[in-house]
Amino acid sequence: MKRVFSGVKPTGHLTLGNYLGAMRRWATVDQHQADALFCIVDLHALTVDHDPARVRRLSRQAATLLLASGLDPELCTVFVQSHVDEHARLSYVLECVATDGEMRRMIQYKEKAVRERERGGSVRLSLLTYPVLMAADILAYGTDEVPVGDDQTQHVELARDLAVRFNQRYGHTFVVPRATPPQVAARVMNLQDPASKMGKSDDSGPGIVYLLDEPDVVRKKVMRAVTDSGREVVYDRAAQPGVANLLEILAACTGGNPSELSGVYESYGSLKSATAEAVVEVLRPVQERHRELCADPGYVEGVLRDGAERARAMARPTVDAAYRAIGLLPAA
Ligand code: TYM
Repeated sequence: MKRVFSGVKPTGHLTLGNYLGAMRRWATVDQHQADALFCIVDLHALTVDHDPARVRRLSRQAATLLLASGLDPELCTVFVQSHVDEHARLSYVLECVATDGEMRRMIQYKEKAVRERERGGSVRLSLLTYPVLMAADILAYGTDEVPVGDDQTQHVELARDLAVRFNQRYGHTFVVPRATPPQVAARVMNLQDPASKMGKSDDSGPGIVYLLDEPDVVRKKVMRAVTDSGREVVYDRAAQPGVANLLEILAACTGGNPSELSGVYESYGSLKSATAEAVVEVLRPVQERHRELCADPGYVEGVLRDGAERARAMARPTVDAAYRAIGLLPAA
């Protein structure tokens, strides 16, 4: 059976982008077709200015939302990254295979480093080495497929490069993984700024639909989405990015096709109403289950405890093998 690994970073409240780009497929497809692991990657949340209590809170919330979105601990492994030491152990070894030039070319590093400097802050070294830790997350489990949105494909490419390089230099140790972005909604854009991704760490609330937004808040945000200067509903990402974004969201929520849907709506208003209702319907069961799970925090804790134990047992042999292959003396 193929191995699938993916993760979410607890740096903000999870969004519709996280859900349509990644989480939904984990629950509907991946956990049924693969030996799948889903991880709350809390170590990654420490790479930018952070509040420790908030990271803890968001990690718990992300775990609860993953389960609310349909992940079933009987079918897959859900755990927190910092509970499994193998991630950090392997990350160091991979740092000895990666180069600093490779890290500096990563688009997300460049964007985030600029933002941190603009805010007058300094850039944490861990922000530069973030993609190596992400490669360790993936490679530790012999992962074949990494279901992620478009924004993570460059990082998965790096994991591939590091796996191939390590195997060539030190002998076959790692499976070479590949990214599997979704066909629709691989990059959900901010409703107020369709040129930027809908990101959970961004501050512009009105353009971001959060998974826990009340139905009326969702409706308001979608109805106020920025559209384009034309009148007709056409699916053209370059000429009509706002409308294209709505069509993609609608298609992802209803299982339709954005080009075909563009022929169905005559005005921006009707497209927005249909999209708002489709999003509300997609989020409803997740929110209901989330409420139930919040009433039973012991259940979520138990899932994470078992998940970490299973993950540790899966990662340890590969990480031990990498230590031996690169020349480290095994402990007696
Ligand atoms: P993160 O937490 O930013 O996002 C989690 C997942 O959601 C996807 N995503 C989106 N998809 C479509 N449209 C959007 N607007 C959107 N925003 C987010 C992301 O592509 C991702 O799949 N570095 C990763 C976390 C990570 C990871 C890993 C992922 C760490 N180690 C190993 C896979 C494997 C991140 O920051 O995701």
